[in-house]
Amino acid sequence: MTSRDSVLSCKSISKYYTKGKDVVKALNNINLEITRGEISSVVGPSGSGKSTLLYVLSGLTPPSEGSIFINELSLSKMQQSQRAAFIRDNIGFVFQDWQLLASLNAYENVLLPLMLKGARSITSEMKEEVLKYFEMFQLLDRTHHYPSELSGGEQQRIAIIRALIKKPSIVFFDEPTGSLDAAAADILTSSIHKAIHQEKCTFIIVSHDSKMLSISNHSYRIEYGKLKQLF
Ligand SMILES: Nc1ncnc2c1ncn2[C@@H]1O[C@H](COP(=O)(O)OP(=O)(O)O)[C@@H](O)[C@H]1O
Ligand SMILES: [Mg+2]
Repeated sequence: MTSRDSVLSCKSISKYYTKGKDVVKALNNINLEITRGEISSVVGPSGSGKSTLLYVLSGLTPPSEGSIFINELSLSKMQQSQRAAFIRDNIGFVFQDWQLLASLNAYENVLLPLMLKGARSITSEMKEEVLKYFEMFQLLDRTHHYPSELSGGEQQRIAIIRALIKKPSIVFFDEPTGSLDAAAADILTSSIHKAIHQEKCTFIIVSHDSKMLSISNHSYRIEYGKLKQLF
């Protein structure tokens, strides 16, 4: 047990990729503790291990060494099917390329995780909750648009709402400002702040862009798979 309200902790995480005779040490002995209701960011250059860190911490890829605890439960001690259900219900992921379903509109994309979590029908409370997030992310006038009819920034904010709607313990966010202009990046950061303050979400954000430092409670730098705390 830890004294702070720890949502994630990891101990001595390493991740190796083997390609023929070459071994890439993408993560090198990483220790990290994430407190509920905070934004933690990891900044580093391309190829430094940021995406690998997110995939490993969120349980999508197993580490080569070390252990990860989310809500004090060990991911590695779970059976594969148990881990898949745990990730589905507790982890939100905003991928670098958003991965919205092209055949569903914005509203339907956001409802999807609720259906996957087992909702038989969409109640009026669920609809209200979804619209609350669309308002928070300045997208109320875009609910019926399809991904192809939305700007990159709008698609990204839909992907965040889709991650938040199931009330995950942690949202992992890969390269938030990668393809945004300054105005879209401002809407993004102010929306995330609202989500944190109103919903007590926890975010782990990785980015090559040090702008993310200004919205973070804690920040780390990653280089060649090694993590150093900045603040
Ligand atoms: N599936 C893979 N197989 C082999 N090497 C990989 C694989 N994925 C990533 N890498 C290597 O691991 C390192 C870290 O990659 P990545 O985590 O994608 O970095 P970042 O997100 O910071 O750009 C890079 O050197 C990359 O080439
Ligand atoms: Mg990456």
